[in-house]
Amino acid sequence: MDNSKIKRYTVTAALPYTNGPVHIGHLAGVYIPADIYARYLRSNKRDVKFICGSDENGVPITLKAKREGITPQEVVDKYHKIIGDSFKEFGVSFDIYHRTSSQTHHQTASDFFKTLYDKGIFTEEVTEQYYDPTAKQFLADRYITGTCPKCGNENAYGDQCENCGSTLNATDLIHPKSTLSGDQPILKETKNWFLPLDQYEERLRKYIESHKEWRPNVYGQCQSWLNAGLQPRAMTRDLDWGVRVPLRDAEGKVLYVWFDAPIGYISATKELCNYAKLDVWNPKAEEYYINNYESDKCGWEEYWKSDETKLVHFIGKDNIVFHCIIFPAMLMAHGDYTLADNVPANEFLNLEGQKISTSKNWAVWLNEYLRDFEGKQDVLRYVLTATAPETKDNDFTWKDFQARNNNELVAILGNFVNRVVVLTHKYFNGAVPTCMEITAVDQAVIDELAGYPEKISASIENYRFREALSEVMNVARLGNKYLAETEPWKLIKTDEDRVRTILHVALQIAANIQILIEPFLPFTAEKLMKMLQNGGHDWDDAGSVALLKRGHQIGEATLLFEKIEDAEIDFQIEKLNQSKSANAVNNATATPAKENINFDDFSAMDIRVATIVAAEKVEKTKKLLKLTVNTGIDERTVVSGIAEHYKPEEIIGKQVSMIVNLAPREIKGILSQGMILMAENSEGKLTFVAPVDRFTEGSVIR
Ligand code: MF3
Ligand code: ZN
Repeated sequence: MDNSKIKRYTVTAALPYTNGPVHIGHLAGVYIPADIYARYLRSNKRDVKFICGSDENGVPITLKAKREGITPQEVVDKYHKIIGDSFKEFGVSFDIYHRTSSQTHHQTASDFFKTLYDKGIFTEEVTEQYYDPTAKQFLADRYITGTCPKCGNENAYGDQCENCGSTLNATDLIHPKSTLSGDQPILKETKNWFLPLDQYEERLRKYIESHKEWRPNVYGQCQSWLNAGLQPRAMTRDLDWGVRVPLRDAEGKVLYVWFDAPIGYISATKELCNYAKLDVWNPKAEEYYINNYESDKCGWEEYWKSDETKLVHFIGKDNIVFHCIIFPAMLMAHGDYTLADNVPANEFLNLEGQKISTSKNWAVWLNEYLRDFEGKQDVLRYVLTATAPETKDNDFTWKDFQARNNNELVAILGNFVNRVVVLTHKYFNGAVPTCMEITAVDQAVIDELAGYPEKISASIENYRFREALSEVMNVARLGNKYLAETEPWKLIKTDEDRVRTILHVALQIAANIQILIEPFLPFTAEKLMKMLQNGGHDWDDAGSVALLKRGHQIGEATLLFEKIEDAEIDFQIEKLNQSKSANAVNNATATPAKENINFDDFSAMDIRVATIVAAEKVEKTKKLLKLTVNTGIDERTVVSGIAEHYKPEEIIGKQVSMIVNLAPREIKGILSQGMILMAENSEGKLTFVAPVDRFTEGSVIR
């Protein structure tokens, strides 16, 4: 977009689903880069609205509610608060954090749908969907389980099998079962409204191809969707949670969550503009704006319907099709709206080499991070930006986190600022010394410094935040190099005037860092502001060496960063390892059940309490023990594969459960008469299944 044309910016960050807290993957993928961009624009005095909110509709919310035994509203209220608090604590500077359960949003999304409907955009299609007659409702894919036709997993979902990873249709499942009633669902006809994406293919292609500057991963994904050919997509669903379809014959139907969610950006902007207005006019804003937003003149439309507005969506890569294909098609169909100028989607962040997984608790949760690393928001912001998955998936490791903190934040940035401030207090009582005579060494540093703001701007405006941050760190490196070369601590005895100049220049470098680091590390910028007693500067001032006037009194030296010890890192790694072993145990319980047997099959087995009276290893085998057991009926020999788990001497006297009517078998030349029951977990560990209390041998188990 032609820069001279831009009057304002609408910056959006994907609305997180409110079915769980947010973790480092979310922060790295979407919210930190978006925040850097928005803060940078504000520092440049540009007109920007930074928009986000909770995505509170859709099936995942209703599933979570079922699982926790609470209502969907309770689920979204809970996580809206938790997620909103995390963002605030990490300094993500949204102008509004709205929510799609709000009345403003329901109204806005409903109106949008109605506009498209009235324009005759939608096609109506009657399809057969699974319906649960007992629960009297249509079943979303996630509400149906059954046997995967590809791998036989008996717990596959209606949209995918988590065992083999196949994408499925609910009707592909063998033996489908409703998770609501447990019954087999029936197919029933239902009408839904479809957006004919195929009709927008050419316009979308033109749109995408006019943005060759987009990240290759984003551009490439769009191309492959277009090349595969677009299909009409249902924009309504049979579900009882979400935005009601505003039509007469649409009882029990809501808008598809991916239809309403991006409209959430628009409703949030409306809400924001109204707040601004009503804050001034009426302290009891709430009732007022809800009833009157249509008459509002605050200008929300400028942020959405003007070609002088630059719209940028920050998202994760799993959201690309929705923001680059479906939402633009919706906006085109509506007709009044401008399209995004860029969609800088990130790839995924892994954790210690594995995909982050909420269900496996393989994640670093923001609320937990802050409990363990109080006040260290910027350390995480730094590491997640320095390792951001901008062009490919990337890995977060705790060792790397520690190394970047200790070797970069502490050793480079913190060290430079601390030395300058401490020396200024020591030699000049904390007053910025006068710049005396500039030498060639000073001039070189001043010149180099002057070049940074533009370089960093270019990186940020092209959404290369890693690169931008590393350039800011180079400013601190420049400062350290300058001090190392000029050694003011040596000169102070012989040439005080020279030291005045050096510290004057070094202090200007620190003041520049304060401006340049602010979009990335706002808490650090704040500390620097206190330390230097320097406020009111913005991006335009960066590059200058006249930020701190001579005689200006600076504040006390405080540490910007502190070393992170091995023990803290080991604790985090240990915490993850615990998730890993918990998962191993959970997986064992999740082993698919066998086919049903009838009661006769069961009662045919004669299972008894027995006691081991003797045990010895079977020669030339690793796994086998020869046991003599008292079954209450007789004493007999059993060969059991437990030698890797138990020593013979430690099991003598143990009570066990035993199948006594299993046909005898010869194993390694020994006649084995029965079988001892053992439980085995997913790691192959064994344990005996025995009566809880000492019990008479021969007692029947049934
Ligand atoms: N809730 C979606 C997710 O977490 C993102 C929605 S973005 C918006 O993947 F477009 F819907 F707002
Ligand atoms: Zn499968």
